[in-house]
Amino acid sequence: MATPSNAPVATENRETWTSNTGFILAAVGSAVGLGNIWRFPGVAYESGGGAFMIPYLCALLTAGIPILFLDYAIGHRYRAAAPLAYRRIRKPAEALGWFQILLSFVIAVYYAAVIAWAMSYFVFAFDLSWGQDTLAFFVGDYLQVGDPEISTTIVPGIAIPLVITWVAVLIAIALGVAKGVEKVNVLFIPLLFVAFIGLVIRALTLPGALDGLTEFFTPDWAALGDLDVWIAAYSQIFFSLSIAFGIMVTYASFQRRKANMTSSGLVVAFANSSFELLAGIGVFATLGFMAHQQSTQVSELEGLTGPILSFVTFPAVINEMPGGTIFGVVFFASLIMAGFTSIISILLGVAASVGEKFGLGWRTSAVSVSAVCAVLSIGLFSTTSGLIALDTVDQFANNVGIVLSAIVMTVLLVWVYRRGELLRQHLNAVSTFKVGKWWIVLIGFVGPVFLVIMLVQKLVSLVSEGYEGYPGWYVGLFGWGTVVFVIVMAAILTAIPWKGRDQADFRPWPELEEEHR
Ligand code: PHE
Repeated sequence: MATPSNAPVATENRETWTSNTGFILAAVGSAVGLGNIWRFPGVAYESGGGAFMIPYLCALLTAGIPILFLDYAIGHRYRAAAPLAYRRIRKPAEALGWFQILLSFVIAVYYAAVIAWAMSYFVFAFDLSWGQDTLAFFVGDYLQVGDPEISTTIVPGIAIPLVITWVAVLIAIALGVAKGVEKVNVLFIPLLFVAFIGLVIRALTLPGALDGLTEFFTPDWAALGDLDVWIAAYSQIFFSLSIAFGIMVTYASFQRRKANMTSSGLVVAFANSSFELLAGIGVFATLGFMAHQQSTQVSELEGLTGPILSFVTFPAVINEMPGGTIFGVVFFASLIMAGFTSIISILLGVAASVGEKFGLGWRTSAVSVSAVCAVLSIGLFSTTSGLIALDTVDQFANNVGIVLSAIVMTVLLVWVYRRGELLRQHLNAVSTFKVGKWWIVLIGFVGPVFLVIMLVQKLVSLVSEGYEGYPGWYVGLFGWGTVVFVIVMAAILTAIPWKGRDQADFRPWPELEEEHR
């Protein structure tokens, strides 16, 4: 019997988010993460300050939002985690799904380490036990960083919070989409926004705050001519919005059939960028205070990017701030909440993909995937070479892997499988904010052209200059090795015959013209 084309297929027993708000909070939870708090302020500052807003907005409008919509359209129409969703479009495309999910998996493995550090620092903040020399404390006493080598010396101070992180992730995932992941987000996301706004207000009332903001927002127009700045803007948007990682495909697949997808997407993108900007303001106001205390300029300060910003510079500022303890506790609690709501999105994506492929129950796949991740993150990142490994893997996953993923995804869907129009109709059939043909132009032309230029430029610089002066074999193993690992594993997983349910009982809804092939 044919299903009337205006009614969703009733036989579906896929779990769903309990409401649109639940979905939006979860998607915001995935997007707002460590990337907003420690990645954005540093990247923006290094890449032209106020002028960075131009490439940033371009990246958001030409690639960020359009690819977010694309992720949503695929997941929502084909109702599965990334590998199966792509497989339902065309069988071989399953490999792209695995490529994306594996990249996310790699990120989860190191992302957990940063959450674990934040947990330790949350505890340290109560009595400022990091002492006066916060750099020596972080690198020496806490991480016990050694040379770029393969170290097997586990640092218990990292391993313990790491185990706690993974157990918490496992519990959230095992409880399921609505009872686990959605609940965590409904609780943490409002809390995170309130806590963070509190931090920003405190930061803005510190002496010197305005100097920090002036430094942050002073545009360096010359930066706009630098290709690297544009690359930085695009990778920031991808990482920050969690797009092209297969994660938003998976999240959208748990959305009810009748759901306003594009409007939700706009809310998520807006919330994410606002949070990012807020973080930039908070961080630079705080740095302004630090410069003020040391009677110097913000531009003279060191350690403004990456983990160093959160784990070395911030503790140093907290030491000097009246009421620093509360600020520190709230800051690290915010990092934990932001990070946790992002990492569970990744694990949900990985677990759902593995479960669907091998026909495993929800709990079984959650346990097995979390166990593998936990072992890998403890083995790789709680050792004395953890920080360097993390930096290298991050660089390759985010500047090479994800760009490649976005190129293959857009070219495959728009040009090879010609699904642009169908997916556009899908979005428009369910959403109130309609997407015009411009969307196909963006995902089919503008996006891929920019991305290919970026990728080539990045590859040339990595091949010719290496990375951060680390030894060649090390960059080969952890950097290029990550990319090769993801590609090879994607091929292997695709080659394994599909064991779960795949096409047989699946019918896309709403029925659209192009589907009758
Ligand atoms: N968007 C998250 C952040 O900004 C990171 C993330 C990447 C989450 C990829 C899911 C998938 O920190």
